[in-house]
Amino acid sequence: MTKQFYIYTFGCQMNVYDSDRLRDALIHNGWTLSSTPDTADLVVLNTCSVREKATDKVFSELGRIKKKKKDTTKIAVIGCVAKESGKEIYRRAPYVDYVYGPQAWHLLLHNLAKDFRDIDVDTHGVDKFDELPMATDTAAAAFVSIQEGCNHFCTYCIVPFTRGREVSRPFDKVMDEVRHLVKLGAIEINFLGQNVNNYQDDNGKNLADLVRETAKLDNVQRIRFTTSYPTCLTDELIDLYRTEPKLIPFIYLPIQAGGDKTLKRMNRRYTRDQYFAIIDKLKAANPNIQVSSDFIVGFPGESDADFEDTLDAVRRVRPIQSFSFKYSKRPHTGAALLPDQIDPDVAQDRLEKLQTLLKDIQREFNESCVGQKIKVLVEHVGRDNPNIIICRSENMQTVVLPKDESLIGKIIEVEITKANTTTLKGQLC
Ligand code: 5AD
Ligand code: SF4
Repeated sequence: MTKQFYIYTFGCQMNVYDSDRLRDALIHNGWTLSSTPDTADLVVLNTCSVREKATDKVFSELGRIKKKKKDTTKIAVIGCVAKESGKEIYRRAPYVDYVYGPQAWHLLLHNLAKDFRDIDVDTHGVDKFDELPMATDTAAAAFVSIQEGCNHFCTYCIVPFTRGREVSRPFDKVMDEVRHLVKLGAIEINFLGQNVNNYQDDNGKNLADLVRETAKLDNVQRIRFTTSYPTCLTDELIDLYRTEPKLIPFIYLPIQAGGDKTLKRMNRRYTRDQYFAIIDKLKAANPNIQVSSDFIVGFPGESDADFEDTLDAVRRVRPIQSFSFKYSKRPHTGAALLPDQIDPDVAQDRLEKLQTLLKDIQREFNESCVGQKIKVLVEHVGRDNPNIIICRSENMQTVVLPKDESLIGKIIEVEITKANTTTLKGQLC
């Protein structure tokens, strides 16, 4: 019987992408995917350390796996917790076999056959992608990682320490992967990177070049990119929202906080007015552009007035999707040393207020779509409800339709009949 593996994925879209690539590589090497970790011969945890809770989750999951696993099961902890905790993982969970940082997990493929423990948390750039086989299948909406790491050193963020400094994959290799995915049936390409709009390869090619080259492929109907840093959004890129109809009118552009004092202490390199000006430019390029954003509340020193600035910025920008978090103190980061850490109850209260406002805005926007005819990409059958199909609008809203599997992978026009905070209901036009 072939050996079976199971992968847990925590955290961001880049981890989802990495897990997919690892899954494909393991299958390529003769492994099969197990439906449960309990009987698997290899269990991989692809981890996130951006907030303390995310790290804690990994260790509690490891404890659960240990109780149920077979004696012979190998366990690998890969990704940002591996980088952050290193050998500490062996101390807290001595049954773990492999510990590989975000840029070293491809070593797992070489070392699985050997009977030893291995740890590598060094920074290897993006070489790992050269060692992986190409995907053998794809969803209609495909992801391509183009850039990793970050040079911004926002004072709350552990990413520059776990993913390392910014590195971009070569343009030609990215385009080879894009063409390959399109041949396999992808019609939407999502470029991924911690600072995706800062993509720059050694020959000077940038994200605008990638978008233009990808848009030339006939079968590609939608292009988007995640996550953008506000001041790295060049006029060249913004202009593509005017000139390139395949670039969908949606941008994930975290502001983090709405007050200048907090932004400065966070080492975000813009003021609230500069952020608003970028949004105005985007909307001038394409009035249909909608924004998604991240927010952190309870950052050290955040006063009531600073928090009000964040609420005010939300009312001004009206993000139609968002992720919002309480500040979490992370090792190595500048903010961990700042005075005036905020009382957890105050932070919780602020988070609830912020999320209420964000949800109201999201619901109002979704409700404004009722009665409209919009284009959606049909992605998959409902995971919890097999009688529906899940689609995505050009503004990245989730749209559900009655089940018709023949539509999966197609872009169709639907009329929106109902809406709530998270979901739109539609019918075929
Ligand atoms: N505490 C809380 N949220 C954080 N994020 C990053 N670091 C922290 C932290 N220390 C959030 C930011 C970022 C998202 C991925 O996670 O909002 O955009
Ligand atoms: Fe972290 Fe800031 Fe870099 Fe984003 S831009 S990964 S928040 S350091």
